[in-house]
Amino acid sequence: MTTEQKIQQLREMKANGRLGGGAERIAAQHQKGRLTARERIDLLLDKGSFRELDAFVVHRTADFGLDKQKYLGDSVVTGWGTIDGRLVYVYSQDFTVFGGSLGEVHAEKICKIMDMALKNGAPVIGLNDSGGARIQEGVVSLGGYADIFLRNTLASGVIPQISAIMGPCAGGAVYSPALTDFIFMVRNSSYMFVTGPEVVKAVTHEEVSFEELGGASVHAELSGVCHVVADTEADTLYLIRKLLSYLPQNNMEDPAFIPTTDDPLRMDEALDTIVPSDPSKPYDIKEAILRIVDDGQFFEIQESFAPNIVIGFAHLGGHSVGVVANQPAVLAGVLDINASEKAARFVRFCDAFNIPLVTFVDVPGFMPGTAQEHGGIIRSGAKLLYAYCEATVPKLTVVTRKAYGGAYDVMSSKHIRGDLNLAWPSAEIAVMGPEGAVNIVFRKEIAQAEDPVKRKAELVAEYREKFANPYVAASRGYIDDIIEPRETRPRLINALEMLSNKRDSNPPKKHGCIPL
Ligand code: HXC
Repeated sequence: MTTEQKIQQLREMKANGRLGGGAERIAAQHQKGRLTARERIDLLLDKGSFRELDAFVVHRTADFGLDKQKYLGDSVVTGWGTIDGRLVYVYSQDFTVFGGSLGEVHAEKICKIMDMALKNGAPVIGLNDSGGARIQEGVVSLGGYADIFLRNTLASGVIPQISAIMGPCAGGAVYSPALTDFIFMVRNSSYMFVTGPEVVKAVTHEEVSFEELGGASVHAELSGVCHVVADTEADTLYLIRKLLSYLPQNNMEDPAFIPTTDDPLRMDEALDTIVPSDPSKPYDIKEAILRIVDDGQFFEIQESFAPNIVIGFAHLGGHSVGVVANQPAVLAGVLDINASEKAARFVRFCDAFNIPLVTFVDVPGFMPGTAQEHGGIIRSGAKLLYAYCEATVPKLTVVTRKAYGGAYDVMSSKHIRGDLNLAWPSAEIAVMGPEGAVNIVFRKEIAQAEDPVKRKAELVAEYREKFANPYVAASRGYIDDIIEPRETRPRLINALEMLSNKRDSNPPKKHGCIPL
């Protein structure tokens, strides 16, 4: 062969590899309303930045006639590229080749880019669309999964790991995404479950569809497995790009500074009236967040799961922050099992990746009831407490209204290393709300009063006057300052800058024993 012929051969092989399982299977993928592995990579990465690895890899299996079916690159496309100019590693499972199923070389390809990502300190993004373990390769596939799980775990807290579920993700295959930091799902087009509808039917006699068992809505609203859900694949990939703008490349870096035209000294008078005068009336904490952060941009995580707590990313004066906020508009912002676990995980992610935490507090306490107690609210609440206690990133707290009981301590209080704890004048910081407190402390007095209703009302008013305010806490230094709500943005930005060289650490240990 001449050199020219050799180059021509290379071009043909590459073109052939790019076709994956062939034109027919690509058409079938499109017919399902899904993109191909390569089309997804093109949408995810900066134009022309993708560099592919292992395009010539083929499987080594002869069983079940597989030796007669070989596809260059096998069933996953791997490599690196950039998002907004920053390096990322990516793998994208190719459903057109053996249903994107994972065999020996598929796993090896993923492991190779994960090793590179860890060594070079850049995020890994996995685009999942797979029939699971390649049945013909047997136990070798299971080994391949475990090789990936190990890497997911070792990379945890070192580089951001993001998974998108763009089609099926079933069986043990779910555990690689589950070990990563964020799972994105496409509505009506993706599903995740450990055992599928047929097994469910055989074991529990339940009839359930793929969507009902593990669709995006289920995982976004009920299980909390999914962090971000989007209507289309293109939206999903766009949102992954957006999420990365809040994250550093690895745990040794700070997140990028994103310059803004939003004035860091901007006051917002509307914040002064956002908390209703009646303490039992709800309001939407997201409205406050949007008014405080840069350009009203808030990237919410797990929006539909445990909406009584709000978590997400924003920028303040160009600095990336993780926001945690009780949501008085849902269940009065109470902390329950799901809310505690949702926030705990987020706090730990932010701490691992040097993202300062801004906590807005309006919490009446922990959710009462047998369902919560029997479900382990003690264990779950402890997770949130643990997460805040161990976090060493800058921690800013704003008590907007209620901070009662144990929930006061948990929500980034001064005692657990809050760096700057502010309160609005509407704050009520006490062991419990006036009604509950009066019922316990003055039970006998109320019962014996001539007019028990009137006496109770008097005592509630007295308690409110005395304890349901921020001044008792501030007089002890538990609150560093009481501010006008309108000042919140400039005060937080100023505090972030004051804390920009913060250094704090925990005692040396192998790892803590978080109450999982
Ligand atoms: C080998 C597979 C495969 C698999 C699909 N294919 N899954 N090949 N191993 N696991 C092949 C099909 O044979 C077919 O090949 C092509 O991929 C497309 O599959 P279809 O069934 O035609 O597609 P569709 O109708 O869209 O159905 C998709 C599907 C279904 C729901 C995912 O393929 C399916 O149920 N697959 C098996 C899923 C499964 O049980 N996997 C094992 C899970 S256990 P042709 O040549 O016809 O195009 C597991 C354990 C992991 O994963 C443990 C880790 C610790």
